Amino acid sequence: MTDEEPRTPEDGWPGGECPAGAFGRRSFLQGAVVAGLVGTAGRNLLGGDASPADRARSGDASTRAVPFHGYHQAGIATPPQPTGTFASFDVTVSNRGELTELFRTLTARARFLTAGGTPPKAPRGSAPPDGGILGPRITPDDLTITVALGATLFDGRYGLGARKPAQLITMKPFRHDALDLGLSQGDVLIQICADHRDTTLHTLFDLLAHTGGAMKPRWRIDCQRNPPRPVGTPRDWFGFKDGIANPDTTDTAQMNQVVWAQPHTAEPAWAAGGTYQVLRIVRFDIEAWQKVPLAQQERIFGRRKDSGAPMYALSENASDLLDPIYTNDPQGLITPLDSHIRLANPQTPETAATSTILRRSYDYNQTLDVHGGLDVGHAFCCFQRELNTYITMQNRLEGEALVPYISPRGGGYFFALPGVLDDQDYYARGLLT
Ligand code: HEM
Repeated sequence: MTDEEPRTPEDGWPGGECPAGAFGRRSFLQGAVVAGLVGTAGRNLLGGDASPADRARSGDASTRAVPFHGYHQAGIATPPQPTGTFASFDVTVSNRGELTELFRTLTARARFLTAGGTPPKAPRGSAPPDGGILGPRITPDDLTITVALGATLFDGRYGLGARKPAQLITMKPFRHDALDLGLSQGDVLIQICADHRDTTLHTLFDLLAHTGGAMKPRWRIDCQRNPPRPVGTPRDWFGFKDGIANPDTTDTAQMNQVVWAQPHTAEPAWAAGGTYQVLRIVRFDIEAWQKVPLAQQERIFGRRKDSGAPMYALSENASDLLDPIYTNDPQGLITPLDSHIRLANPQTPETAATSTILRRSYDYNQTLDVHGGLDVGHAFCCFQRELNTYITMQNRLEGEALVPYISPRGGGYFFALPGVLDDQDYYARGLLT
């Protein structure tokens, strides 16, 4: 395929259905009521797309594999696994040929690691090719490896400038950001998600060992998804259910509209099937948050803390599946105008086009900072067809009541590559050929 020939879902498999989109789950359907039904579909059809709760119950989670080949990369519409790593790299190779070799190598390793298998035996007297962390046989463990490119890869080094995704830029600081360059940007972002932490670390070791210095680590953040307490959507470190309102990843039309780059648009043809990925490393001021009265915490987010339900729902058993509604609350007496959810999605005609993104965030928990403060927060991650949707939404959120309790300090903008279609294909082939 060349840059002139746009990718279509049909390149990947008959029928034009995307496997991840077709069998993914609505993240706002994570309640106990539907978990059984959807979990069954996930188990039967894709194995790895069962919910974390299903996986935990099954007892053999580490043997599940998320399919690697597809029109879209796994790790985007895939329901989030419990552990994640975001690792950013600067590419050090000197020409386009070496860059292609790097992506071929990354593809081969990702194909193997996500399927699992036995590493080759070491010749007598040499070091083993695999560190052995996962034992003699590597189990897939629901591993997904998702590769995305930063704007800097499209500078003069590899002659890719004319093929840059139309909206890809380097992240500029927003009003309340204090970005640390050592935690920001990068030529390549690799998102590694799995059921267990040893798998994500083994993957990172493996990718670094096999790419042999062709890319230099720039920054990395290890993070997790907390278990549902007591059911449904996991809670973040502020104690709120986080990830309730999200696009329905089983709805192909909606995913094509809000997440996946489409052929025959302003985007270069090779980009179809990819998506813009935003990562924001946001530290929480937990000490200050713990002093905020419950009613005020709820007004800051615009949802009930225990149930996750919208503000109009007073019963402690109210469902988080209820939709927030603002039509009878123009002054924000029930859901404040500066609350997080109301600014993220004000539900007005003017903001309709900039109010839907696919959130797939993780929570991080690092060691104490130099002053002995808790260094915990969010690895906020979202995917959207237009980067400008995120930027407009974030500009609205600069005025939110949550601002005093969060400090954005890193991350960046990336373009998550289209999927690897089959054994002959490799990451970024359409871009590089
Ligand atoms: C980093 C700190 C953040 C925290 C702790 C946080 C937490 C939350 C929580 C608790 C909810 C309500 C439950 C839900 O629907 O998931 C929510 C909703 C949402 N958040 Fe965030 N969020 C953060 C950052 C962001 C950012 C940076 C954006 C995008 C710029 C964003 C966009 C959204 C959207 C679109 C919704 C759903 C709004 C709706 O349609 O009701 N969030 N967030």
